[in-house]
Amino acid sequence: MRPILPINKSEILKRYKPINPNTHKGIQGHALLIGGSYGKIGAISLASKACLKTGCGLVSVFVPRCGYKIIQTAVPEVMVLNDVSVKYITRIVFDFVPNAIGIGPGMGQDIETHTALHRFVKTNKVPLVIDADGLNILSQNKQWLTFLPEKTIFTPHQKELERLIGQWDSIADKIEKTIAFSKQNNLIMVMKGAPTFIIDGDTIYENTTGNAALATAGTGDVLTGMITSLLAQSYDPIDAAILGVYLHGLTADIALPETGYQSFIASDCIANIGKAYL
Ligand code: APR
Ligand code: MG
Repeated sequence: MRPILPINKSEILKRYKPINPNTHKGIQGHALLIGGSYGKIGAISLASKACLKTGCGLVSVFVPRCGYKIIQTAVPEVMVLNDVSVKYITRIVFDFVPNAIGIGPGMGQDIETHTALHRFVKTNKVPLVIDADGLNILSQNKQWLTFLPEKTIFTPHQKELERLIGQWDSIADKIEKTIAFSKQNNLIMVMKGAPTFIIDGDTIYENTTGNAALATAGTGDVLTGMITSLLAQSYDPIDAAILGVYLHGLTADIALPETGYQSFIASDCIANIGKAYL
C-alpha cells in the first residue's frame, strides 16, 4: 500500500501565503480563462468569477463571440476577449502574457476547437490548468501531451479520467494508472470525486473537505477557476492544486447548514470562498 497524505488544515497552513498589505492588482496575478461555447457560456462565467473571488488581481476571459455580452454582464470585473467565431472557439489569440491559464470549461469539442487547442498547446509556455472539454480533446490527441508545460494541472472527473488513462478494475488500479500517467507526462492529476485525490508523480494526497452538495452542475468549473487563480498568484502547481481543492470543498461545508444538500448550487461555492479563507 502506498502512503496517502491527508489534505487537512495543518497541511494548508504550511502552504498558504498571506496577502502583503502593500500589494496591488498588478502584482496579485493575471489569470486567463479560455472556454465556453453556444449554450455553455455559464461554465466559463462561473470559472472566471471563482477565479476573481480566489484572490487574483486581474482576470481575462476568452470566449466565442456569443459569450461576449454574457460575460461582460455576468462578471463586470473581468476583461473579455472573443474569438472570431460566434458559437465555438476556433483560434485563440491574445496579446499579453498572463501568469496562468485555465482552459476547457464549456468549450465543446467542435473540430475547429480541436485545431485551436492544438495551436495553443504548441506555443503556450504559461502555467496551465486543463479541465472538461480541454481534457476530452487531449484524450483523443495524446501526442499533444508532450507540448504541455511541466506540472500542468489536469482536473478530470471520473469519465474524463477514464478517457485519459483507460478503464480500471479497482480504486488501487485507478490510482496506479493515474500515477503512471502523471509520471509519464509530468502532470499533476486532480482526480475529482468523493473524496478528491491529487497525484503528483508517486505522491498521493486525499482531500478532507467537501460533501455531496457539490454533486451539482458547475462546481467543477468553479474549481478550475479557483486553481487557476492560485497558480496566477505564483503558488507552485502542487500548492495551487492542494489549496484550491481544499478551499473548494470547504465552501460546500460552510454553505451546507444554510442550503442543505438539495438547494446548493455552484454559485454557493463562489459566495463562500471568502469565508473558506478565514
Ligand atoms: N462529494 C464530494 N464532492 C463531490 C461529490 C460528492 N458526492 N460529487 C461531486 N463532487 C465534487 C467533485 O469532486 C468536483 O470537484 O464536485 C465537483 C464536480 O466537478 P465535475 O464533475 O467536473 O462537474 P461540473 O464540471 O460542474 O459539471 C459540468 O462540465 O466537466 C464537464 O462534462 C462535464 O457536463 C459536465 C460539466
Ligand atoms: Mg467538469
